[in-house]
Amino acid sequence: MAGPGCGHDVVIRERQPADDEAIRRLNDAAFGGPLEAKIVRELRKARLAVIELVAVEEGEIVGHILFSALKVTFGEEIMPTLALAPMAVLPGRQRQGIGSDLVRHGLALARQREWWAVIVLGHPDYYPRFGFSAALANPLAAPYTGEAFMALELVPGALSGAGGRVVYPPAFDVAV
Ligand SMILES: CC(C)(COP(=O)(O)OP(=O)(O)OC[C@H]1O[C@@H](n2cnc3c(N)ncnc32)[C@H](O)[C@@H]1OP(=O)(O)O)[C@@H](O)C(=O)NCCC(=O)NCCS
Repeated sequence: MAGPGCGHDVVIRERQPADDEAIRRLNDAAFGGPLEAKIVRELRKARLAVIELVAVEEGEIVGHILFSALKVTFGEEIMPTLALAPMAVLPGRQRQGIGSDLVRHGLALARQREWWAVIVLGHPDYYPRFGFSAALANPLAAPYTGEAFMALELVPGALSGAGGRVVYPPAFDVAV
């Protein structure tokens, strides 16, 4: 998977265990602290990290995105849903399309692997360009509300039933 990257080749590929130290450093740098890297580790430990991609430029990991299995229920029915979080691009390489490449590749893989929906808590100016909508997430009973809490259906109608509930795993509760 290759994409544009300001004159250099940026390759998007699935994460390998040997990438993990570089991914940790990248998250620490992008978020300015260790919390998100800790969430990444907890999600892996809980075996919930089902899609994890890195953006590699000239051998360096410059971007990372993780999609984890999320419990979304409509009564007895469980909707195969992912949480998009965290994602990070190296400061200095931001605003050059790398994050968008990661989101688009991740959503394509999610669709291919038959996930039905994706939920994100993030910048309200960023995620709508990929089709995420706060209006779609709003009816779900969840620990979050508001314009930063957004959803995207990979299968039309996946989240449109009544009584939807989102339960985040403890991996997201980690404190610094
Ligand atoms: C958010 C992030 C992953 C985006 O990656 P990126 O490679 O910079 O994104 P792209 O180049 O594909 O898109 C750039 C767009 O992202 C948006 N964007 C980037 N950072 C943003 C921020 N902090 N708040 C709102 N929008 C932001 C801008 O709208 C920008 O568009 P513009 O250049 O037209 O202004 C990256 O900026 C980052 O790592 N930020 C720090 C960590 C973070 O906040 N992660 C996301 C948690 S939800």
